Amino acid sequence: MSTIVAPSLLAADFLNLERDILMLDRSEADWIHLDIMDGVFVPNISFGFPVINRLKKVTQKPLDTHLMIVQPEKFIDEVAATGATFMNVHFEACTHLHRVVQEIRKRGMKPAVTLNPHTPVMLLEEILPDLEMVLLMSVNPGFGGQQFIDNSVRKVAQLKKMILRQNTSTLIEVDGGVNLKTGRRLVDAGADVLVAGSFVFSSENPEEAIRMLRAL
Ligand code: DX5
Ligand code: ZN
Repeated sequence: MSTIVAPSLLAADFLNLERDILMLDRSEADWIHLDIMDGVFVPNISFGFPVINRLKKVTQKPLDTHLMIVQPEKFIDEVAATGATFMNVHFEACTHLHRVVQEIRKRGMKPAVTLNPHTPVMLLEEILPDLEMVLLMSVNPGFGGQQFIDNSVRKVAQLKKMILRQNTSTLIEVDGGVNLKTGRRLVDAGADVLVAGSFVFSSENPEEAIRMLRAL
């Protein structure tokens, strides 16, 4: 099975968003990763629902939303209305994570939980069976184009062990500083899904870059 690839729209050219989305749609990309930021949970603001609601009209690809916001439970309805397949919420942003996860599922989406680089994988021990996916951040969230944090490979391996031990079918997604080199190590450690922003959009041939990531 090939590696699932979810290019991050954050690195697209926002003046030519339709062109870039159509390129992703033509490509072998499996999903489109959408980074939603609030300037509070992370020190940056990206785009929100008006943009997502427009772009979903021009793509057939499943949407993988990554909410880098405080109180993501306030926006479950809005995310569901975009037709998103996955809703990723940060472990660090949810006091009542179990409730948020159940609400996401009730609204017909696949719940996923994201861990910042400093958050240990073992904190997911109890919630794991309720999740479709875990997203491990391999940079501090908020910006594209940052350097890959090496310890992420170890976290992938630890999470893989936990998944095998609990016998769940949870996917492992990794986000931040992913390229062919780091991607190879992540897949070897057990990653199922690679998010890539700069690597895809700054390459001369983004469709080929996506193909190469899928072949890892
Ligand atoms: C960072 C975002 C990422 C970002 C990755 O906060 O969650 O999805 O777009 O960008 P690259 O691949 O450039 O590190
Ligand atoms: Zn992301």
